[in-house]
Amino acid sequence: MQTPYPADYHATVQQVVRENETGYLPPLKTVIDGSNQYDFVFVGFPTWDMKLPPPMKSFLRQYSFRGKTIIPFNSNGGYGPGSTFQTVRELCPQSTVLEGFSTRGGLERDGQLLAIKDARAEEVRKEVESWLKTIGMLK
Ligand SMILES: Cc1cc2nc3c(=O)[nH]c(=O)nc-3n(C[C@H](O)[C@H](O)[C@H](O)COP(=O)(O)O)c2cc1C
Repeated sequence: MQTPYPADYHATVQQVVRENETGYLPPLKTVIDGSNQYDFVFVGFPTWDMKLPPPMKSFLRQYSFRGKTIIPFNSNGGYGPGSTFQTVRELCPQSTVLEGFSTRGGLERDGQLLAIKDARAEEVRKEVESWLKTIGMLK
């Protein structure tokens, strides 16, 4: 992002709610060269305001993934993927979007950062493995 979100969790939540209301797409800082050379694109994102985060909408708008396979995955604070996967489909109408993976990650509000570690990391690793098998990305 060209302008980072505030460090304060609640301020960020408020800003995101406003951006979702107005459909604002924040300009991105990072430019990805040669995005066209990939056939499979894994796209990962958290649930924000039960939606796809505005910078992810910017990202999917900015790059054309026409004819590519998009593989979405999500972390959330316990309320699920919300409308995120649906929005990925809507923003990539000319891509094949595979069944997404969703799991519970950290929750900044509780000061619990990088929660996917130790025993939880092993649990999630198994979930990811079985998802990859289901969508045919792993034998
Ligand atoms: C601005 C903001 C809004 C959020 N909104 C939601 C939400 O609506 N539902 C939810 O389950 N989690 C919500 N979260 C929690 C994030 O989904 C969670 O922190 C994230 O998945 C953690 O990912 P990580 O463990 O990969 O860092 C929100 C977090 C932020 C910063």
